[in-house]
Amino acid sequence: MDLIRVCLGDITKLEVDAIVNAANELMLGGGGVDGAIHRAAGPQFYEACEKVEQWRPGVRCPTGEARITPGFDLPAKWVIHTVGPVWHGGGYGEANVLANCYRNCLELAVEHGARTLAFPAISCGVFGFPAERAAVIARREISCFSLVEDLFDEILLVGYDEEMCDVLESSALKAARSLTPPAA
Ligand code: APR
Repeated sequence: MDLIRVCLGDITKLEVDAIVNAANELMLGGGGVDGAIHRAAGPQFYEACEKVEQWRPGVRCPTGEARITPGFDLPAKWVIHTVGPVWHGGGYGEANVLANCYRNCLELAVEHGARTLAFPAISCGVFGFPAERAAVIARREISCFSLVEDLFDEILLVGYDEEMCDVLESSALKAARSLTPPAA
């Protein structure tokens, strides 16, 4: 069975060990999936986010990094907050920062024993990252990380609409190609 599965819908409804939140550095909510998670997770969730140490004033989670809180009223036990890059055209290291988001989320998931994990399309909404490129980065990082055996049972790539799901599905081949070394 493939480790990665694409699914359509609202990430806040998923009964998985951990869901990933596309947050901002303040980590106190926002729009998009961040807003949906905060609304669904309830007041204790906000309090838990407030308690996350500020790395510097106004920054609980620096861009590219990840932090974890319980999921409280969500079906998911954990929420892994990550802050993706804002897309500025691709020349400012955005791809590497997005790759770091996936790697840091995967590491936190393993540290907390989360064997089922769901990612939204980090940075593909307000932050403007091209979905096709982001999907290949997501698959590549998850596949590389999972070369270590038996870390996860299933990892979901969640598309909030059919269009995003199509992009997530079609990225599989491109991601595989990016993993295979060029012919000698
Ligand atoms: N479930 C799954 N996916 C969702 C949901 C949901 N309930 N709501 C939105 N999405 C999708 C969007 O359609 C998009 O494809 O999540 C993807 C990420 O979009 P955003 O939520 O806008 O996140 P991002 O682009 O990373 O921007 C983050 O937006 O909400 C603020 O506080 C957040 O400042 C941060 C910024």
